[in-house]
Amino acid sequence: MTNDPFFNNVLIGVFIAAALFTIVLFITTAPYGKQERDGWGPGIPIRWGWFLLEFPSFAVFAWFYLNSDHRFSAVPLVLFILWEIHYVHRTFIYPLRLRAKPGAQEKIIILLFGIIFNASNGYLNGLYIGQYAEHLYSNSWFSDPRFILGILLFAGGFALTKHSDALLRNLRKPGETGYKIPVGGAFRWVSCPNYLGEIIQWGGFALASWSLAGLAFMAFTAANLIPRAISNHKWYLEKFEQYPKERKSVIPFIL
Ligand SMILES: NC(=O)c1ccc[n+]([C@@H]2O[C@H](COP(=O)([O-])OP(=O)(O)OC[C@H]3O[C@@H](n4cnc5c(N)ncnc54)[C@H](OP(=O)(O)O)[C@@H]3O)[C@@H](O)[C@H]2O)c1
Repeated sequence: MTNDPFFNNVLIGVFIAAALFTIVLFITTAPYGKQERDGWGPGIPIRWGWFLLEFPSFAVFAWFYLNSDHRFSAVPLVLFILWEIHYVHRTFIYPLRLRAKPGAQEKIIILLFGIIFNASNGYLNGLYIGQYAEHLYSNSWFSDPRFILGILLFAGGFALTKHSDALLRNLRKPGETGYKIPVGGAFRWVSCPNYLGEIIQWGGFALASWSLAGLAFMAFTAANLIPRAISNHKWYLEKFEQYPKERKSVIPFIL
């Protein structure tokens, strides 16, 4: 906790939201992609949806970080660069590379929730790393095992997500719109290795920054992606009779 009551309240809010989301998302799945369905109100084209959804994570983090006192300290700068490498890709490149179904939409209600939570997480992490995290301002943090392990997890998770997203994207030849059984990479163990990679990546970031803000973001990511991975796995089993039976949803050999 910090001496900033507003910051602390937002932090608690994100932890509470992550807990509530876990329950809600086990009951119902967000209606996009494989789970797209009617009855969730109007939507906007999926590429714009991704852009608008992810932009607050990119911009709000950058705004608070770049206005903080320790923005030129080495450790915070490394964490800032890692965050932004992910979000520059997710905001500006990923939406353009999607091989989306014609008419695919992001529902506005989902978009609004996403914008609020991404802005909150960008605010918490940008401000904490640039301003409040005293342990990060000394270069000795570079040799701390928490930092080293955290960076390794971040890099491994990042690589797993990007590789799995690329395998998924290449399932559709240009112009194709259907679904196929994904193969290769970590798909041999789980149906949603892209989600697993994302959770590992933000777990690594939380460890490297040793912060409740990072932990809140990891909790939020897991709350979002674990129930969705379970739904996607069930969807694959129902859709494809020949779907590999030994494959799990998101955690190899376990879940
Ligand atoms: N940090 C967070 O809280 C959070 C939240 C959500 C997503 N993400 C990340 O954002 C990325 C995308 O998420 P997502 O939920 O959209 O992933 P997804 O459902 O796996 O879909 C990714 C892309 O691959 C296509 N695709 C998926 N399965 C396919 C199949 N069997 N055959 C052909 N094409 C297939 C999808 O098309 P369709 O759209 O037509 O299904 C979509 O274009 C992931 O890396 C995820 O980790 C992060």
